[in-house]
Amino acid sequence: MARKLSLKELPLKGKNVLIRVDFNVPLEGGKIIDDTRIRESLPSIKYGLDQGGTPILISHLGRPKGEPNPAFSLKPVAKRLEALLGKKVNFYAGPLEAAREEIKPGEVLLLENIRFQPGEEKPEKDPGLVEKLKALGDVYVNDAFASSHRAHTSIVPLAKAFPGKAAAGFLLEKEIRYIGDLLQNPKKPFYALIGGSKISTKLGVLKSLLNTVDALFLGGGMVYTFLLAKNIPIGRSIFEKDLVEEAKNLLAEGEKRKIPIHLPIDLVVTDSIDHPKEIKTIPADQGVPADLEGVDIGPKTIGLFGKLLQPAKSVIWNGPFGVYEHPPFDKGTIGIANALASLKAEVIIGGGDSVAAVQQARLGDKMAHLSTGGGATLEYLEQGSLPGIEALSDADL
Ligand code: 3PG
Repeated sequence: MARKLSLKELPLKGKNVLIRVDFNVPLEGGKIIDDTRIRESLPSIKYGLDQGGTPILISHLGRPKGEPNPAFSLKPVAKRLEALLGKKVNFYAGPLEAAREEIKPGEVLLLENIRFQPGEEKPEKDPGLVEKLKALGDVYVNDAFASSHRAHTSIVPLAKAFPGKAAAGFLLEKEIRYIGDLLQNPKKPFYALIGGSKISTKLGVLKSLLNTVDALFLGGGMVYTFLLAKNIPIGRSIFEKDLVEEAKNLLAEGEKRKIPIHLPIDLVVTDSIDHPKEIKTIPADQGVPADLEGVDIGPKTIGLFGKLLQPAKSVIWNGPFGVYEHPPFDKGTIGIANALASLKAEVIIGGGDSVAAVQQARLGDKMAHLSTGGGATLEYLEQGSLPGIEALSDADL
């Protein structure tokens, strides 16, 4: 893939700089509970201002389904951004046709949630949207790594509307540097830990990681489909019936290629996640009793995985290894986070829940990179690129 144009290579002085950011932050009662994505966007916005440009920010928040909905307004984000930036941030919620009048040279303008526009998620519904957005800027920057797996108007068509002037922002470049380089040129041994509840959302990534990793370590709800594939009883644990065969194939593929696929050796099982009366740890090969369900990896697995990971030079982790949002079933995930933090390896935490778990354990500064992406990180790991990256201008134009 050709190198993409960088924000550093764009002329910005006196220009309106359209920046697609991902301010899709978690809100509770209208309050931002994690502003990581806003903080991570600051370097590009500050650079735009410092170079004499006027940043015009486009983002989505949640899934408002193409119509205005106050619950998904970016207004609270504008306030937080202003506080973090220490500079005025103008917020504009009116019709896009009139937005140009709101642009004040040298001041940041944040547009209201772009997903209030029916044409954002479905470009064919409003082909005029790309023109309305294009009219607001002289150059385009994608700094929304976490949204770059979506071929939405502000991600793909808008980038293409700026030939030779559509660049990667600093956050996007950072994500490409860590995750892209890891895939292309991993320091060996390279291990991947993949968890989460569903094998269906991870199958593609597991298959594609088999091409690069030296070993896979599996955890989370999806392991029960693998245990079933090995004819081990799983009691009431979650599983995906139509993927048992695929799980079997993946295990066989690992064996064929001599790439170990490590499954947990012990499991924490319970009668109920919400109101547990019975919690016990069992050896995985014994199987889950019929009236119980598996909810976490056990201490022996944490110890074994920790030991097997020791030689690692690079590691990627995506997906919790248990029902970590329900303590005490967070022990496996936290144990894995601690094991990774103690390695002498470049550890990349790839997205969503695993990043939250690492931060909860206050281990963020022990990792080389915490990805801001969720679905985007997985898709990048699987495909090696994303539509939003591909749509940017090549550097050598
Ligand atoms: C995310 O949080 O993964 C991104 O902001 C994309 O959001 P989406 O899944 O609603 O497209």
